Amino acid sequence: MGKNMGTLQQITLYIALCGFISPSSAFSWNNCTIRTPLKDIQPKVLCYKMGFFKIPLIPRNTRILDVSFNAFAQIQIGDFNQLSNLQELNISSNKISQIQEGALDNLSNLSHLNLASNRLQGISRGMLHGLTNLLVLRLDYNYIQDIEESAFSTLQNLKVLNLTKNHLYYIEKIKPVLASLFLEELYIGSNHFDAFYSYEMSTKPLALKRLDFSNNPLATFQLTDNVFPTLSHLDLSYCGQNGTMTWNITDKTFFTSVKTLYFMDVHMSGQNAANVIQSFKNFLNKIRLNANVQLNKTNLLLNACSSVLQVVRLSANKIKHLTDHMFDPCSNLTELDLGDNEISQLSPSMFRGFTQLKRLRLQINKLTRITNSFQMLFTLEFIDLSRNCINMLTCDDFANLTQVKTLYLYSNKISIINSCLFKDLKSLEVLNLGTNNLLRIGDAFSNGPHSLLDLQLHFNKLSKIEKYTFRNVSQLNILSLQDNQISIIEDHAFEGLNNLTSLLLSSNKISAKTLTKHYNVFSGMPNLKNLDLYVNGISFTDDQLKYPPFKDLKQLRVLALHSQRRGIGKIPSNLLQGLSSLEMFYAGNTNLAHLSPDTFQSSPQLWFLDLSKNALSEDHSIPTELFHPISKLTTLILSRTQLRSLNFLLNANLSRLSTLKARGNEIDSINKTLIQSLPRLEVLDLEKNTFTCDCTNAFFIDWAKNSNSTQVVYLNKYMCSYPSSLRGMSLSSFNTESCTLNIDFICFLCSTIVVIFTLLSSFIWHFLRFQVVYAYYLFLAFLYDSKKKQNGSTFQYDAFISYNNKDEPWVMEELIPKLEGEQGWRLCLHHRDFEPGRPIIDNIIDGIYSSRKTICLITRNYLKSNWCSSEVQVASFRLFDEQKDVLILVFLEDIPTHQLSLYHRMRKLVKKRTYLRWPKPGEDTKVFWQKLKMALETKEGHKSDHMMKL
Ligand SMILES: *[C@@H]1O[C@H](CO)[C@@H](O)[C@H](O)[C@H]1NC(C)=O
Ligand SMILES: *[C@@H]1O[C@H](CO)[C@@H](O)[C@H](O)[C@H]1NC(C)=O
Ligand SMILES: *[C@@H]1O[C@H](CO)[C@@H](O)[C@H](O)[C@H]1NC(C)=O
Ligand SMILES: *[C@@H]1O[C@H](CO)[C@@H](O)[C@H](O)[C@H]1NC(C)=O
Ligand SMILES: *[C@@H]1O[C@H](CO)[C@@H](O)[C@H](O)[C@H]1NC(C)=O
Repeated sequence: MGKNMGTLQQITLYIALCGFISPSSAFSWNNCTIRTPLKDIQPKVLCYKMGFFKIPLIPRNTRILDVSFNAFAQIQIGDFNQLSNLQELNISSNKISQIQEGALDNLSNLSHLNLASNRLQGISRGMLHGLTNLLVLRLDYNYIQDIEESAFSTLQNLKVLNLTKNHLYYIEKIKPVLASLFLEELYIGSNHFDAFYSYEMSTKPLALKRLDFSNNPLATFQLTDNVFPTLSHLDLSYCGQNGTMTWNITDKTFFTSVKTLYFMDVHMSGQNAANVIQSFKNFLNKIRLNANVQLNKTNLLLNACSSVLQVVRLSANKIKHLTDHMFDPCSNLTELDLGDNEISQLSPSMFRGFTQLKRLRLQINKLTRITNSFQMLFTLEFIDLSRNCINMLTCDDFANLTQVKTLYLYSNKISIINSCLFKDLKSLEVLNLGTNNLLRIGDAFSNGPHSLLDLQLHFNKLSKIEKYTFRNVSQLNILSLQDNQISIIEDHAFEGLNNLTSLLLSSNKISAKTLTKHYNVFSGMPNLKNLDLYVNGISFTDDQLKYPPFKDLKQLRVLALHSQRRGIGKIPSNLLQGLSSLEMFYAGNTNLAHLSPDTFQSSPQLWFLDLSKNALSEDHSIPTELFHPISKLTTLILSRTQLRSLNFLLNANLSRLSTLKARGNEIDSINKTLIQSLPRLEVLDLEKNTFTCDCTNAFFIDWAKNSNSTQVVYLNKYMCSYPSSLRGMSLSSFNTESCTLNIDFICFLCSTIVVIFTLLSSFIWHFLRFQVVYAYYLFLAFLYDSKKKQNGSTFQYDAFISYNNKDEPWVMEELIPKLEGEQGWRLCLHHRDFEPGRPIIDNIIDGIYSSRKTICLITRNYLKSNWCSSEVQVASFRLFDEQKDVLILVFLEDIPTHQLSLYHRMRKLVKKRTYLRWPKPGEDTKVFWQKLKMALETKEGHKSDHMMKL
């Protein structure tokens, strides 16, 4: 009966749909995601790591395409026919060994092409021919040995070419590249050049600004013409062979434009290296000498430093000691990088020569003290002392440093900070004290620094934030206190932080009590925009709070409460009171089982809501009313929340929702009404759900494939879970055509039906007599029922018990004594109360209709038996017909949902409503009987009024 109605509904539904879907204008994407809003006329399409062998079907107007990490072996004519708007193309990390001449001709708008990490052996004449607007070309990590003569002749806009890591042996091979007259950056590092003769490249001036020769076994470097008049950046790192290099620059003025020299870990003798550096002296601004471990630094600096040299990088040189006069020739430096060495001691005299030093890097060394070494560096603005072993700071360590804006002291062993430390740091804006051993802050900041904007105190051992701690650092924008042990926040702890925008308190030991004990925990921060409280121990039991903790944070935009260690329990309905500017709320992974409809009553600006990884499986865990105050919601994340349906969104009025993520749930179908209630949806992610592959999802499947306003992310990975015969099949490959009927077919159907009906009825009578009789009885039940309705109903019994004979012992020993004996209900049992001699089906109908409720005791045996399922049918017919909740399902055994799927009707019932479960042996049965009693007590009102919550 119900089934026929369903089919009829489907037929009408699909007739209505016929005019709606027009597949012609739409496109489908298989493994790609679109990053820009779909309405964007020039989308960015990401298809990396997808196993593609050729360019997939993507929107024609695509501007940026990433197909890296796939399995392309070649590019052929026609591959990019549709994509003439492409501006950026990344095909790196494929297996391309061949690009057909002309295959890229279509891409005249392309400005960036990345072909790195492929298997190209050469660049032929016509391969790049059409790329007339190309600016940047990456060909690094290929097997290129050869570049044909005019391969670059049409690339007149090329500015950057990367040929790093190829198989080039002779500088002559580079020559064709210079047909791109405006080439500015050329990277030819990590090839096999062992000699550079400038005349092999060119004798005329080139436009190059940056040239990377690094990692070549260069043994000869000869420059005989002024070919690099504009070169400003030269990289000679890791060059040289066996300690020697023939360095022959015929005119000293050839390198006058070079401002930056990378000279890291060269394979040269000290004398040779000094020689090379000498050619740049008096022009160079910046030199990097990393990992020149063997070379005499004092000597190198002597040859490099001049009045124009400003930056020296000496990181990673295993330097142990700095000698007193080492930097004497370099008094004009503005930046000195000594990071990543083995320096354990500083002395005030070694830096005394500097008069303009602004940035000093000493990170990753072995310093334990600072010993007043910076006292003369009046011009210093930036000091990095991170990742040392500093365990004590004295009042004079930063004396005289009135210009310092940034001080990094993180990853040391500092346990005490004294306020005198900051006495001269009048300009300090950023102070990073993270990852130290601070146990308390005390009055460290009681006298400023008043200019401080960013204070990092994360990863320490603070347990308490005392009253007025930050009152004198009132310029602070960011205060990071995450990863401490904070459990106590005193009243007015953050008072005075009038400019604070970000307060980071995640990963501490903050509890609900910390937040709600006083009235003023978060007072004094009127401009706070971002508050992180995730990974703490905040857990609520009350529905309402006496002191809502955030009430003063009128400007707060982002509140993160996710991942509370023991779960948040519930969100009190007034928790967010006062947060009238709240835009983003994170409440994932907090063991949340239910949300009060009033939760967002005071935060009408909310557009982002993350509730993922909670247990929201119950029917009203997320009430529709929750969404009524937040009509600006655009992003809703419900991934892994055990949801069985999204129907609570139907009347939520989410007319602006554009992103809905609900992956990893138990959703089996998406209906048309739901889709229509989300008119602005752009991104829908439903991967890893338990879809039913039948006509109930036909609309969704067609829509998902064809919609050109919504992107259903990774649709091709959605799998069928039901029916079991289709399990594992891809949802998108379910053939929906069989669900669609057209008008001609219906006319044809009408005429055929008459014929078939005649044939069928005789056939049915012949072979299916039993079922017909059964249907007849259902019809009787219907009549009986209408008669009852007219008479007004009085019930002979409280409950009809439907069970299998094999479960009789449980009924006799547990159920009857409890329900009839203790609780005093009148039960109808077939072995006792059925009238002998009457047809069984009459007895069943009578039994069910003269009882207020029907209790089904579900076991595997029950599901198998014929009569039991008729009982369920009659009862569920009554349920459907009277709109009354008469059915109580009691599971005596654990039956996994997938086993239920064989019993279609039962699965539907179980999915729709909650049910009782007989406790496992050893568990307490009190709660079970109490719930059963409550279920029996409920009067038959409207269905949803008394749906049990278990
Ligand atoms: C999509 O990606 C999967 C692997 O991630 C691959 O097996 C499948 O063939 C791809 N689909 C298409 C259409 O290329
Ligand atoms: C050039 O290629 C090398 C090697 O792949 C890479 O590390 C470098 O970042 C590239 N540089 C540019 C500017 O593309
Ligand atoms: C460098 O030394 C290696 C082996 O020690 C030798 O084979 C090679 O020819 C030498 N190269 C030069 C330029 O001397
Ligand atoms: C440097 O190169 C020029 C031109 O090839 C040559 O005449 C001169 O002898 C070379 N000098 C040295 C020291 O090799
Ligand atoms: C390094 O060079 C300087 C100056 O040329 C010299 O005084 C010093 O002794 C050298 N150091 C070593 C270890 O050779």
